[in-house]
Amino acid sequence: MKHLIEPTDLTKEETEEIIDLALDIIANREKYSEACKGKKLATLFYEPSTRTRLSFTSAMMELGGNVLGFSDAQNTSVSKGETCADTTKVINCFADIIAMRHFEEGAALVSALNSRIPVINAGDGSHAHPTQTLTDLLTIRREIGRFDDLTIGFCGDLKFGRTVHSLIKALSRYKGINVVLIAPEQLRLPGYMKKEVLDVNGLPYKEVSTLEEVMPELDVLYMTRVQKERFFDEDEYDRVKDCFVLDAKKLAAAKPEMRVLHPLPRVNEIAVDVDSDPRAAYFRQVENGKFVRMALILSLLKWAGREDKKNVLVPENAVRNRFTCRNPRCISNMEVNVDTLFRPAADKEGEWRCVYCESKPK
Ligand code: NCD
Repeated sequence: MKHLIEPTDLTKEETEEIIDLALDIIANREKYSEACKGKKLATLFYEPSTRTRLSFTSAMMELGGNVLGFSDAQNTSVSKGETCADTTKVINCFADIIAMRHFEEGAALVSALNSRIPVINAGDGSHAHPTQTLTDLLTIRREIGRFDDLTIGFCGDLKFGRTVHSLIKALSRYKGINVVLIAPEQLRLPGYMKKEVLDVNGLPYKEVSTLEEVMPELDVLYMTRVQKERFFDEDEYDRVKDCFVLDAKKLAAAKPEMRVLHPLPRVNEIAVDVDSDPRAAYFRQVENGKFVRMALILSLLKWAGREDKKNVLVPENAVRNRFTCRNPRCISNMEVNVDTLFRPAADKEGEWRCVYCESKPK
């Protein structure tokens, strides 16, 4: 079974096949209007969402399929203590494909490990958000026309921003990618991302402390919201919440063909005076999210059950129940009956990373 838990669950070729399919859907909407007739998508959302859930719903409706699910897990058996694994097994009896968003890191992986139907990770805590990445890639393709030779600035919450982690992973497979990290000290990109993704793939990156100093060199500026819900300490959030604000004055120094992306929702990190600038691509990005999710649903349903289309959810060299994860939000620490799983780190011999959330052992 092919699931999408991490952006790299799709090969570079499969990713581009999905992007191409999305472009064909945009050009020939009618052709796909019954492509998922009789199929059901279950949207299991344990965490707030506007765009992701509704774009999945809208995508399945445009394909002629049906949608069931929940957007408030407190109204479901989760409030009685049902685990993610059991909920998945139940939903397998009702649907053909699952899109799951969860506040626990690794939840979508646990779901996939317990599923006979494809599972799509619609965001797991601060870990990954691969369908936002497909959205971002389609937007870059339509707005800029290439994935190679890009200088891309990531600004805001690079620590908890799952969309940032996933997009960097996907772009690390392209040539000539320069990464500029613009974040306050407390919200810098996690160490595993720098070591296992940027360094291992040889991507040059620099960390800077102002938007102004890098604006003229960027091809893409990826703005993000400070992820309030992931902070353990509210004072800490207050200290960093207004760290970077993009406004028309700052944008004036950017190249005319530069594009501003944002997964949305925005809080205050982009002033509304930027919205009317042709370089502001974030509302066009939202629409791309629907088309790319249509392409993804179609592809995963087509690939379901194919021997040549499966992903390795747990690496062969992973060890089970030998260590405990140090991340309190990892599903292995939050739910019962979840084995701990650690794989050798890619950047350093003798080190281990949690298969669910990529943290180190305790
Ligand atoms: C993002 C998310 O949920 O991670 N939103 C989205 O899916 N478009 C970004 C965010 O919440 O800041």
